[in-house]
Amino acid sequence: MKTKMRLDKMLGNLGYGTRSVLKGLVRQGAVTVNGNPVKDPGMQIDPHADEVVLEGERIVYRDTVYVMLHKPAGFVSATEDRRERTVLELLPEDLAVFSPFPVGRLDKDTEGLLLLTNDGKLSHDLLSPRKHVPKTYQALVAGRVGSDDIATFATGVTLDDGYVTLPAELRVLDDSATESRGDSAPGDPEEAVAPAERAIFTAEAARARLDTVPALQANRTSLQEAVAAGEPLNWVEVTIGEGKYHQVKRMFESVGKKVLYLRRQSMGPLPLDESLKAGEWRELTEEELERLRNYKKAGERS
Ligand code: URA
Repeated sequence: MKTKMRLDKMLGNLGYGTRSVLKGLVRQGAVTVNGNPVKDPGMQIDPHADEVVLEGERIVYRDTVYVMLHKPAGFVSATEDRRERTVLELLPEDLAVFSPFPVGRLDKDTEGLLLLTNDGKLSHDLLSPRKHVPKTYQALVAGRVGSDDIATFATGVTLDDGYVTLPAELRVLDDSATESRGDSAPGDPEEAVAPAERAIFTAEAARARLDTVPALQANRTSLQEAVAAGEPLNWVEVTIGEGKYHQVKRMFESVGKKVLYLRRQSMGPLPLDESLKAGEWRELTEEELERLRNYKKAGERS
């Protein structure tokens, strides 16, 4: 395996400047390698073994990044798009320079956990249809979700194109507080939903917050219609082991319900960090990365 690379390339890969800026800096004597001043920007170094210091800062090389993003509504899960804002625009330049890409897709109006990495192998393994990595979503659904829907999801839902989904687990999180009466009943799913967010899952509150919750605005008309028709709104959780196009929305459509809001809570062993607000991100911890890798390996054995 090739272990050496040009000094200016190493610094460029880490986002310390363009090749021409870096060439200038090296020639001016701003860089030392293993304590020795160097003047040759093309010097071959081992980026993992050699100690490179740029203007007094010790440079730690890495070539992979793993980012947990709380995707907000209004951004597409792509690296480039001619019309829409992409999730890449939510990352700072010093991470974007590693060219991470989203592991799978969330719809433009879906919020929640999105992993971004430039580790193609891990991404491939997590998305492989053979691995069935479970993804859990919470959703606000118009229409009464009942035991018949839970049974249908458990056996497999026939989608609009005839595809029968793998068995999925459906749970109704809040059966009482979400009636379009709009009052908030005792017994809310306190543990499942943070108070500020729980507020959008009553019909009245959802209507009141239409203008401030972008994910709800995307379904403004449907929400208003559901409220006007006195339809119940249910706050549900669903776990699927595959990732077909618009899968959760289409599963509910197949049983006559409409998803008004969707948020991914977890992917395999990785839950969304609840301290991240929509639009915020952080890098994965070593422990989280290990969990993902080991999980993938466990999947391989089964
Ligand atoms: N299912 C959907 O319908 N949309 C998403 O964004 C993710 C899963």
